[in-house]
Amino acid sequence: MNFEVKTTQAESEKLDALVLGIFEGEPEPAADVKAVDSALGGTIAEILAGGSFTGKAGSSLSLPTSGRLGARWLILLGLGKPADFKLENWRQMAGRAVAAARDLKLKIVGTTLPDPHRLEAGGQALGQALAEGAILGSYSFEVYKTENKDEAPPRVESVVAFAGPYAADDLRRGIADGETISASVCLTRDMVQAPAKDLTPTVLAARAADMAREAGIKCEILTEKEAADLKMGAFLGVAKGSLEAQPPRFVVLEYMPHKGEKPLVFVGKGITFDTGGISIKPADGMEKMKYDMAGGAAVVGAMRAIALLKLPINVVGLVPATENMPGGNAIHPGDILTAMNGKTIEVINTDAEGRLILADALAYAEKYDPEIVVDLATLTGACVIALGHQAIGIFGNNQDLIDRVKAAGDRAWERCWQLPLWEEYNEQIKSDIADMKNSGGRAAGAITAAAMLAKFAGKLTWAHLDIAGTAWEEKGRPYAPKGATGVGVRLLVELAKDYAAQKAGKATAAATA
Ligand code: BES
Ligand code: MN
Ligand code: ZN
Repeated sequence: MNFEVKTTQAESEKLDALVLGIFEGEPEPAADVKAVDSALGGTIAEILAGGSFTGKAGSSLSLPTSGRLGARWLILLGLGKPADFKLENWRQMAGRAVAAARDLKLKIVGTTLPDPHRLEAGGQALGQALAEGAILGSYSFEVYKTENKDEAPPRVESVVAFAGPYAADDLRRGIADGETISASVCLTRDMVQAPAKDLTPTVLAARAADMAREAGIKCEILTEKEAADLKMGAFLGVAKGSLEAQPPRFVVLEYMPHKGEKPLVFVGKGITFDTGGISIKPADGMEKMKYDMAGGAAVVGAMRAIALLKLPINVVGLVPATENMPGGNAIHPGDILTAMNGKTIEVINTDAEGRLILADALAYAEKYDPEIVVDLATLTGACVIALGHQAIGIFGNNQDLIDRVKAAGDRAWERCWQLPLWEEYNEQIKSDIADMKNSGGRAAGAITAAAMLAKFAGKLTWAHLDIAGTAWEEKGRPYAPKGATGVGVRLLVELAKDYAAQKAGKATAAATA
């Protein structure tokens, strides 16, 4: 998809379609709508007066222009009440615009921009959200389709933004960032979408290495041998069920442009398939467990975006990748595993494997003396029960970090909701014969999983994001078609931007002191 910013008049530009956002219940139409409507001879005013299209959020109306505009089609998209309008509504509008154009088999789509007094965001933020909505909204995963290829609707090829009151350069800068970030989200989606047979731990590691080469960052892939030398007994315990057939990999990505500074460390769960192991899952819905590496894939995507955006901050990505399979060598319920920091874990349920591999990854993170550690994991079904598909569950041991992650999630519209990690929950994971159990039973399942991770985060400044409910979209949303969402990538980019900006602020403060 290609983007262009023009300072010409939207009504006269030659396009397949012109998209106009229409607010609900506005007595006076916005300037862009007025200009287009006067070229049309008042059709929009007539439609609005008729009441069949009112600008209600999510509504749309497409009409041919019969040569009265430069564009062949006019697409009206309802933006809802002006008081409720946020940057996210604009991002969604971009997604809906490309979908509406695609339905009409149109390739070149233009759009005006929301009035500056309707939205506090500047041109750069608008440009970024436009690119994100349009690119993420037109994503589809076609790798395995062979039939009716030519029947698939053509993609929108070109999006033209009419700058209006905004500086064209601000818009262009934002669009460029949005393109980089969205391509990274699509990389994550492609990995999550791929079946477990084709996205094994080895392939996941190879994709991370390819990304690292493209983005010019360091990638180290630890094999089962190296993990054994590091005494990663919890990670290797999970891997035992398929050690020969499909060996595990531990991916280390380093983007360290500032030597000597503490990095942010991002950790992602990379279970390429979760059968449950010996505590095997029911057959119904098990096919979905290919997405149990969504946290790991989000870390790979975020590292790509952060490196290509050249954010002035050190970031490390860690992805423990393995299958969780039953087999003659698989661990048994009752087995006791020793993680690389020496702590012992009694395995009550082999299906609580995510916390086992993250235990070793968090212990490994210590060697970086990190500024912060954030892990992302499709960790618990309990989180889906608690928060459904709208919110990421967030936990941690430092409220400042949690608040900053939540704020980053709000900006990216990958929103987080905090659950408590009170000391008392540790009761549920006490073991009679080891340092802890890997399952605390059904009650507060998302919390007791986080409580186990907290023991491995130790003194690190740490937050945990449970993305079990948000990594897969069942129905399809404006810029998240059915399937893998790539959740986490945009949140982590926002978080890295925040820490980079804070560092720059400190540096200027020091220079002016
Ligand atoms: N990968 C699953 C969690 C999950 C469930 C992710 C549904 C996405 C959708 C995880 O490994 C798991 O199996 N957790 C168990 C833990 C239990 C055995 C303590 C769960 O949530 O049931
Ligand atoms: Mn499991
Ligand atoms: Zn799992």
